[in-house]
Amino acid sequence: MKTSISLRLTCLFATLLIVIMLISNCFLRTSLFSSLENLMQKELIFRHSLMAKYISTQGSASHWSNVKDKIATLTEHEGRKVDYLVLSKDRKFNLGGEVADKINYDGLPEGFSTVHHQNESYPLYILVETLKPLGERPEVKFIVAIKSKPYYATLNEFTRSLVFISLAGLILVVMLSYFLARYGLRPVRKLSEQANCLAPGKQFQRLDCDTLPDELYSLAVSFNGVLERQEVAWKQLESFNANVAHELRTPLTNLIGQTQLGLSRPGASDELGELLESNLEELGRMASIVNDMLFLSHAQAGQHAVELSQVSLREETHKTCEYVEPSFLEKNINIDVIGDVQVMIDKRLFHRALANLLENSARYALAGSSVGVELSQQGNFTYIAVSNVGEPIEPQHLSRLFERFYRVDEARNLSSVHHGLGLAIVKAVALMHGGEAFARSENGVNTFGFTLRINAPDIASNRAILSASRVSVEAL
Ligand SMILES: Nc1ncnc2c1ncn2[C@@H]1O[C@H](COP(=O)(O)OP(=O)(O)OP(=O)(O)O)[C@@H](O)[C@H]1O
Ligand SMILES: [Mg+2]
Repeated sequence: MKTSISLRLTCLFATLLIVIMLISNCFLRTSLFSSLENLMQKELIFRHSLMAKYISTQGSASHWSNVKDKIATLTEHEGRKVDYLVLSKDRKFNLGGEVADKINYDGLPEGFSTVHHQNESYPLYILVETLKPLGERPEVKFIVAIKSKPYYATLNEFTRSLVFISLAGLILVVMLSYFLARYGLRPVRKLSEQANCLAPGKQFQRLDCDTLPDELYSLAVSFNGVLERQEVAWKQLESFNANVAHELRTPLTNLIGQTQLGLSRPGASDELGELLESNLEELGRMASIVNDMLFLSHAQAGQHAVELSQVSLREETHKTCEYVEPSFLEKNINIDVIGDVQVMIDKRLFHRALANLLENSARYALAGSSVGVELSQQGNFTYIAVSNVGEPIEPQHLSRLFERFYRVDEARNLSSVHHGLGLAIVKAVALMHGGEAFARSENGVNTFGFTLRINAPDIASNRAILSASRVSVEAL
């Protein structure tokens, strides 16, 4: 599964924050806990000091009730938060608060300790001192005990606040870090948008490195290097195609000429005549492919339409329709032409592209349906679209149909007659006019078309390459 860098950064930030918060929260809680313990011990010392001295001076059994009263008054006065106990082997010197019977005091060490009682959720904090015997009084253990519940309540309240603040902080940091990461990664997105716009074979396409941060600069520079090398390779391939096509034309023309000569000579047997005719047909096809390849190579090399003239597209479309009419009559399909645009174009190139589109429609439209040709102006472009009702085309094919020799289903497409060059030529004609080709398949209607730039400056200024372009136009 692909993960986004923004998400990864967010997770890293969140993990880091959780670790830091866990450590700092544990530290804060522990330090608060020890402060509270200190407080309790100070409280115990203070309470202890209130009574210990007094008890240690009491040695008479008859006056022991004074100690009892004093302890009772003190306990009452302090709201029963503190218990004072005196434990002795002689039961009449035993004095006890409410905790006296809940705890086993025998094992308690001298000094501070904590005692858990099964009915209480919080421990008792206890200070124990053994007082030496005096007079009738034997040795006694004086115990001060405080309930830690209020202290633990403070600690719990603090812990709850910590957890709440930490969670709120975590959510805030996660959200902020996600947006910041996305913001920080904007140059990457821009770079990928630029890279997405790169099309194979287009010349002088480079990524714009100037606005990129240091981290991406070297990547983009290397990528531009790759593009440069790819452009060189592409040009070599294109010129190789053009050269092969060019070199094949002469021998093909010779072969066609000789075969025609052979056919025209009297005395050849019927069998030989049939063979020569079939060869002539195949040679004609080969010559047409070679011419198409040559035309496409020149268009790809950046040649523009030069024999421009002002025309009414509607009129020109009707002329092309007449030319392809027989294919439409066969399937009882009629053609509707909508709209008109006056525009400067190379008429021959336009006829060729439109004828290819109409021929395709005649083949793929449902019998008895109608094919629509829409002519309109959209901004700086003339828009020509041919639509027919037919089988839907899968999106993965749509994007590749304008490639040379690409057909959706070769077996069903009479590959000996149709080579898959028609749409590539449509695209080439669009390119030569500064436009582009497009294909759509929506709601059972397939639309193929192309745009032509109106008064494109680069078209006008390219009359200079007229001589080179003639090769391509002659090849039509
Ligand atoms: N109107 C259409 N409806 C459905 N599919 C189409 C339509 N036009 C073109 N296609 C598909 O696009 C493929 C390529 O078309 P293209 O015109 O380039 O080649 P072709 O018609 O097979 O051969 P050629 O045009 O060289 O005779 C076709 O083989 C066909 O699968
Ligand atoms: Mg075709």
